Amino acid sequence: MAFLELKNVRGGYGSLPVLHDLSFEVEEGQTAVILGLNGAGKTTTLLHIAGLMKPWSGSVTFDGTEIHDKDVPKHVESGIVLVPEGRRVFPALTVLKNLRMGAWTKRRKTAFVKERLDLALRYFPRLEERKDQLAGTLSGGEQQMLAIARGLMTEPRLLMIDEASLGLSPVLSQTVFSIVKQINEDGVTVILVEQNTGAVKIADTTLVMEKGGIVFSGTGQEVLESAEMREAYLGAPA
Ligand SMILES: Nc1ncnc2c1ncn2[C@@H]1O[C@H](COP(=O)(O)OP(=O)(O)O)[C@@H](O)[C@H]1O
Ligand SMILES: [Mg+2]
Repeated sequence: MAFLELKNVRGGYGSLPVLHDLSFEVEEGQTAVILGLNGAGKTTTLLHIAGLMKPWSGSVTFDGTEIHDKDVPKHVESGIVLVPEGRRVFPALTVLKNLRMGAWTKRRKTAFVKERLDLALRYFPRLEERKDQLAGTLSGGEQQMLAIARGLMTEPRLLMIDEASLGLSPVLSQTVFSIVKQINEDGVTVILVEQNTGAVKIADTTLVMEKGGIVFSGTGQEVLESAEMREAYLGAPA
């Protein structure tokens, strides 16, 4: 069985269906990239995996355990971390305090928190240089780095990042992607939700979503080479 498995997930908001029999798998140690246009259901998918939304039917299995009917603290405990869209950092707190907030549930384990802090700052040297700066004064790219670094504080086994590169320059996007790849190579399974096809460079598996379902699953190369797919699902000119 795969590390993460969604099987025939249906779900949505109120009575509005968004996910339609959504099924896919992610193997342990992989980086999966989910591409798709605005409104395809990418964020809704991540919310279902993180336990913030419950499927109407179908199942979400993580590391051999069905988690879709469990509450969020269980997801966190099992190592599922979501870095939400829009880098919600605490603007009036320093970089360091933002990172500490990421380990709030383990705040009494001081040695653990110190170890995670050191690790997070090693991945993001730019944050190390700015650790006493208020998060609200960081650039957009630095805030994104902080949001990801904060996600590392609880020792994730599955790290999900929603639109990491949104609003970043191409160069900065590549920097963020390559740090995410390092995190993955150090043993964390990653799901990246992106509208930026540049992300497929670090993907082991690329999934394309449309209208709440997976319309393609394969290599990033196949997506990039398919003019039809680029035009229909990614909004890029063929
Ligand atoms: N809080 C919400 N309440 C109602 N509908 C929502 C909510 N969030 C998203 N939706 C709808 O769900 C669909 C999928 O949205 P979303 O998962 O955010 O897509 P994506 O992340 O791919 O852009 C869209 O039609 C969107 O309007
Ligand atoms: Mg979204």
